[in-house]
Amino acid sequence: MTYEDPNIMDVILEKLLLDMFISPRLMRKYIKMLDLRGDENVMEFGCGAGNSSRWLAKELSRGALTCVDISEFWLDKAKKRMRKYANVRYMLGDVTKNEMNEKFDLIFIHQVIHDLPKSKRQETIMALKGMLAKGGRIFIGEPINMGHGMPVSEIEGMMESSGMKEDNHYFDKALLIGQSYIGVYSISEQGN
Ligand SMILES: C[S@@+](CC[C@H](N)C(=O)[O-])C[C@H]1O[C@@H](n2cnc3c(N)ncnc32)[C@H](O)[C@@H]1O
Repeated sequence: MTYEDPNIMDVILEKLLLDMFISPRLMRKYIKMLDLRGDENVMEFGCGAGNSSRWLAKELSRGALTCVDISEFWLDKAKKRMRKYANVRYMLGDVTKNEMNEKFDLIFIHQVIHDLPKSKRQETIMALKGMLAKGGRIFIGEPINMGHGMPVSEIEGMMESSGMKEDNHYFDKALLIGQSYIGVYSISEQGN
């Protein structure tokens, strides 16, 4: 799927497969893994059409979700899809370039970093880590397929070099996405 320049097939696939079938199944597992209290301040970095955001918003009944994307097209889709959630706000643009006067308990990243140029991946994670509150965590789910994805060693290396320590990880498989690395990281003592 081409997220930057979507065509009609991308939009249909996103709606029929991702939104209706794939994301609900994946998000049930991810939310269980995250063990949220429901009052956290969460950012979803690269929310796309909001397939994951919808499930996070439901879980944060006493918290808040900030959906961030650089694509106006996909952020508008997310806004429409989630108009009934009062605890969600939307930010268009590259938050890693702007100083945000806000800290997050969790930054959720699903299928975003592998699409960035290799030279930008580490600095993006470093910038996001700087937006974490004390005790904050990063959820990262990235494809690890040879053709479209990034190696597990790169994901783990990038997180550790950014001062994050792994709490938990596993490997998942889904239609359209293929094999993914799913990990939860918190700020390491050295990374403080
Ligand atoms: C493959 S989609 C994944 C969307 C969503 N996370 C999901 O799993 O359905 C990647 C998204 O990341 C966004 N993106 C890419 N670079 C970004 C950046 N620097 N800041 C924010 N969003 C970005 C793209 O516009 C796209 O919507």
